[in-house]
Amino acid sequence: MAWTKKHLLDIESLTADEITTVLDTARGFKAVGERAIKKVPALRGKTVVNLFVEPSTRTRISFELAAQRLSADIVNFSAEASSFKKGETLKDTALNLQALNADFIIIRHSASGAPHFLSRVLDAHVINAGDGAHAHPTQALLDCFTIRERKGKIAGLNVTILGDILYSRVARSDIWALTKLGAKVTLCGPSTLVPKTFERMGCRVTHDVDEAIRDADIINLLRIQHERQRKTMFPSIGEYTQLFGLNQKRLAKTKPDALIMHPGPINRGVEIDSEIADSNRSVILEQVTNGLAVRMAVLFLVNGGKVPAETSN
Ligand code: CP
Repeated sequence: MAWTKKHLLDIESLTADEITTVLDTARGFKAVGERAIKKVPALRGKTVVNLFVEPSTRTRISFELAAQRLSADIVNFSAEASSFKKGETLKDTALNLQALNADFIIIRHSASGAPHFLSRVLDAHVINAGDGAHAHPTQALLDCFTIRERKGKIAGLNVTILGDILYSRVARSDIWALTKLGAKVTLCGPSTLVPKTFERMGCRVTHDVDEAIRDADIINLLRIQHERQRKTMFPSIGEYTQLFGLNQKRLAKTKPDALIMHPGPINRGVEIDSEIADSNRSVILEQVTNGLAVRMAVLFLVNGGKVPAETSN
């Protein structure tokens, strides 16, 4: 088992062993987070910059906490208060951050490929915190961590991803990660948002929600990503909820131990019934908690940290 990557740009370029390495390393950091003293010195003297050019709550704050727990210095870049407003490019912005001794640039950007571009022009480690509809690798890693922790394995599980797949970077990264680890992935939603072309990624596509969730061990819900949709993809939110929302009637027909997941932010009463979101079937807030340990693991590993000896999948 090894980790050799300087950057974390996507899941597609990781091996199953590398994904498992992140999950095993995160398990150790989760245990650290349960101790009275939650800090370790692994990144002492390093500087991490959160370069978020799109809104975020969970990813930005958990990277900030992860860097602090690893004893790094962390700076949060605010696009609104930056010289982007005066026409400075992304490349020049990043080069200036590097000139200020940034060792890590964590980037979220609306343009797919922005992190890959920065990885070619910077010496600093680049971590993708979500680029357009392309990739959100740390979300997929924390999803896999949560599934493995709750179910004891990933291989052989039926995972249904339900919602706006077409515009979802989470869906693409989850599909890569889950299929590499041996899960059987089903995608479901309106045909405009779940085209059959996704079958090329090694998953099953259906537009029948009851059939999609009936045998699922995991039901991962996605919100409608209005910010990336350039045309109307379905008649109305009300109709979407009626046809594809997870409600009590639909939940009653699922396996009793099926877990409900969602990367957040959730839209209560649209893709998920509010009571289900707050129920003991939901692991949505556990996903958020696990995101901190997973992001600590990612920062630690790309910095060249020693990987744990033991693996399991
Ligand atoms: N899941 C996720 O990426 O949430 P944020 O947009 O709040 O970071």
